[in-house]
Amino acid sequence: MSFKDKIIKDRIPAHVAIIMDGNGRWAKKRGFLRTLGHEKGVDAVRETVEAAAALGISFITLYAFSTENWNRPRYEINALMKLLVTSVNKERKTFMDNNIRLLAIGDLKNLPARSQGELKKAIEDTSGNTGLRLVLALSYSSRWEIVEAARSLARQVSAGTLKADEINADSFSGLLTTAEIPDPELLIRTSGECRVSNFLLWQIAYSELYFTPTLWPDFTKEDFYKAIVDYQGRERRFGLTSEQIKQTKNRHFN
Ligand code: FPP
Repeated sequence: MSFKDKIIKDRIPAHVAIIMDGNGRWAKKRGFLRTLGHEKGVDAVRETVEAAAALGISFITLYAFSTENWNRPRYEINALMKLLVTSVNKERKTFMDNNIRLLAIGDLKNLPARSQGELKKAIEDTSGNTGLRLVLALSYSSRWEIVEAARSLARQVSAGTLKADEINADSFSGLLTTAEIPDPELLIRTSGECRVSNFLLWQIAYSELYFTPTLWPDFTKEDFYKAIVDYQGRERRFGLTSEQIKQTKNRHFN
């Protein structure tokens, strides 16, 4: 029986975020260059995105390149940037066939001009699609965006357009790169590493975390369904007690 058959249709998360880790180890295990692991990782992206679109998930955010990744060897950075351009072009059909709209978050001005151009074009070309929104986090780090938001607030306060006491969690969220995106209910990380690596730190305050030893290039639709089933088995309490959650649910059903 596939995990897909165990998914409860009316409890699908609206937003799933993924730290796609293990490309390098996947390649090394096979005696290949790390870059081949990234290339194989694109197949796992397609599989996952197709599965998410078919399930009716609204947002999927993929950690494709972190601020810290700029410190990797030059050849790997170049290969990743090239892969980004070729992938967004090659996957155009996947986006259109599955009604997927492409978005990007991060310090995009740091990307090579060609990558910025191709990305912008793919974002524009898919802007009429109304299904899954695929958010690529590129040159992204959570501390970067939090500092940017803090700077913006400080500027508004010093300009006298905002009072310090008016700052709250909602207004702060509105200044992050994810302002238009709901917080992820589920964060998946592959490759067995159990950390969040500067990804969506503000937004995952109440996310369910799911870690799997599967290396990203081996991640399949079935692995994705398994993560969703696991998520659906969790009790999300948001700081309340289990009894309070049950009472709220009963109130909804009665
Ligand atoms: C982490 O694995 C993965 C990355 C830094 C890049 C992720 C990129 C892709 C999956 C391909 C391109 C994606 C899109 C959306 C077009 P790692 O290199 O850190 O692996 P390791 O921990 O085993 O060394």
